[in-house]
Amino acid sequence: MTSVTSLSDSVQQHLSSALTAALPQAAGADPLLRRSDRADYQANGILALAKKEKANPRELATQVVSHVVTGEVIADVEVSGPGFLNVTVADGAIVRNLAARAADPEGRLGVPRAERPGTTVVDYAQPNVAKEMHVGHLRSAVIGDSVVQLLEFTGESVVRRHHIGDWGTQFGMLIQYLDEHPGELDHEASEVSGEEAMSNLDRLYKAARALFDSDEEFKTRARRRVVDLQAGDPHTLATWQKFVDESKIYFFSVFDKLDMEIRDADIVGESGYNDMLAETCRLLEESGVAVRSEGALCVFFDDVKGPDGNPVPLIVQKSDGGYGYAATDLSAIRDRVFRLKANTLLYVVDARQSLHFKMVFETARRAGWLGEDVTAHQLAFGTVLGADGKPFKTRAGETVRLVDLLDEAVDRAAAVVREKAQDLSEAEIAERGAQVGIGAVKYADLSTSANRDYKFDLDQMVSLNGDTSVYLQYAYARIQSILRKAGDVAPAAHPELELASAERALGLHVDAFAEAVADAAAEYAPHKLTAYLYQLASLYTTFYDKCPVLKAESPAQVENRLLLCDVTARTLHRGMALLGIRTPERL
Ligand code: ARG
Repeated sequence: MTSVTSLSDSVQQHLSSALTAALPQAAGADPLLRRSDRADYQANGILALAKKEKANPRELATQVVSHVVTGEVIADVEVSGPGFLNVTVADGAIVRNLAARAADPEGRLGVPRAERPGTTVVDYAQPNVAKEMHVGHLRSAVIGDSVVQLLEFTGESVVRRHHIGDWGTQFGMLIQYLDEHPGELDHEASEVSGEEAMSNLDRLYKAARALFDSDEEFKTRARRRVVDLQAGDPHTLATWQKFVDESKIYFFSVFDKLDMEIRDADIVGESGYNDMLAETCRLLEESGVAVRSEGALCVFFDDVKGPDGNPVPLIVQKSDGGYGYAATDLSAIRDRVFRLKANTLLYVVDARQSLHFKMVFETARRAGWLGEDVTAHQLAFGTVLGADGKPFKTRAGETVRLVDLLDEAVDRAAAVVREKAQDLSEAEIAERGAQVGIGAVKYADLSTSANRDYKFDLDQMVSLNGDTSVYLQYAYARIQSILRKAGDVAPAAHPELELASAERALGLHVDAFAEAVADAAAEYAPHKLTAYLYQLASLYTTFYDKCPVLKAESPAQVENRLLLCDVTARTLHRGMALLGIRTPERL
C-alpha cells in the first residue's frame, strides 16, 4: 500500500534527476531541500557537491537548473546567492496533492508505513500499587501514550508494558494487616468506584503503618510475610492479589479520566518477573558481570561514585537474599529481548531515575543482552513545577493528587467552553469541558521537550490564544462549522485556479505532515508534532482571515477552498489523535 507522495518528495526527486543529469558522478546526492521564506523551497546541497567536485557552485547550480523539468510540479527554479536553488511549486500541484490526501481511504495524510518495521517495547504509565498517583505518573502516561501512537502509526510493532510497582517490602505489612483484619477489601470490583478504591487502600495503609510502628510483634510478623510473598506462598499471594485488584480499580478510573486506553494484559508489574530473578542473578554472577561484595551481589562502574569517592554499585541482590528494583528491571530486559523479540526498549521514566537506568542498561550490555541489534533508551522527563517554579506541591506541602488536578482542569475548561458556547446543551458543555480540559493538560505536557521541567499553569493551559490545545481544537471546530454550513457544496479540487499566498502557505504546510510525524516518532519527541500542529492552526487562522471560503469569488473557488479546509481539518484531527487529544466537532 503506497501512501500519497508529498510534494517536497516530488520536488526532491525532480532536483535529484536534474543533478544527476548535470553531474553524473553526483547520482544519489541529496539536494538538501528545505522550506524557505524566499521561495517555497530552497536546496542548499549544490554548494557541498561543487566543493567536492572542485566545480564553481553557481555554474553547477545553473547547469542543474537547465535540466529541471518545469511544469506540473515545479513552476519555477532559480539560482540564488552563491549557488542555492530557489524552487516555486505550481499552484495546481498543491491542489492535486490536497485532493490525493482527501481521497486516501486509509486517511494516512501522506505518512508512509515503515518498510522494515521493528518491535519496540514501551515501558510507560507505571503507578505503584496501594499508592496515590501523582503528577509524575501523569507525565509518563501522557508522553508514553503519544509515543506509542506515533510509533504504531509509522508501522512499528509496539508492545506496551506498564511496569507497576507491585512488589516489595511494604506488602508484607499490608498483607499481614489485612489478614488480621479480614473482610476489608471483600467486594465485587464493579461495586467500587476509583475514589472509593483509593480511600480503602489509603485507610488500610495508614492503619497498617500505625500498627507496624507501634507493635514490635506485628513488625516481626509483617517481615515474615515478605519472605512468604517472595517464596510464592498461595495464601499470601491471594491476599496480595486483593491489593493489586483494588489498586487497578483506582488506576483504571484515573486512566479513564485521562481518556487513555490502558489494557489489563499490558500491565506486567515488577511481580511479573519474580520467577526470573534467581536466574538473572545466576547469569550475572557466572559471567562475572556481578560480584559478591559484603554478601550482596553487585555490579560496579568506573564512572559511578558516591560523594565520598567510593564506587556506588548497582545492587542486584541484597545481602539478606532479597531482590530489589534493579533485579526486576534486569529480568524485564531479558523477557523483552529474548521472549518478546524487541529491537528497541524504551522507558518513559522520570529523569531522577536516570542513574538507575544507566547502570541497568550497562549491566545488560556487559551480559550481552543488549548490543547492536537491541538498544535501550530512557525517555527521561523533567519535573512538573508549581507556579512558584518549585516542584508541584499543595499549600500544605504534600504532593498533589493527580485526580484533583485533572478535575480542576476539567472545571476550568468547562467554564471556557460555557463562555463561548452558543448552541450547546449542558450535557454537551460537560463533555466538551472534559475533552478540552484533559486535552489542555496533555498538550501542555507534550509541547515542551520531555527532558525539561515545566510549570503547571492551568490559566495558561486553557487559554484560547497561544500554543494551547484549545486553540487547535477551536481551529478544528471552526473548520467543521464551515463544512457544515457548506451544506450540499462538497470540497473539490480545481488545480487550474490561482492560489492566494495564504492558501499556498497552508497547503505547503499540510504537505509537511509526514516529515513532522517521522521526526517526532524517530526522536520520541511529541513536541515536534505539537509545534507542527500549532503552526498548522496559525496558518489556518491567517487563511481564514484573508480568504473567504463560502463567499469566495466563484463556485469553483468555494469548492477548492473547502478542500483546503477539509484536508487541514483531517490533518489536525489525525495529529491531535497521535497526541491522545480529542477534536470535538463543535465547540
Ligand atoms: N513505578 C515506578 C515509579 O513510580 C516507575 C517504573 C518505571 N519502569 C521501570 N521499568 N522501572 O517510580
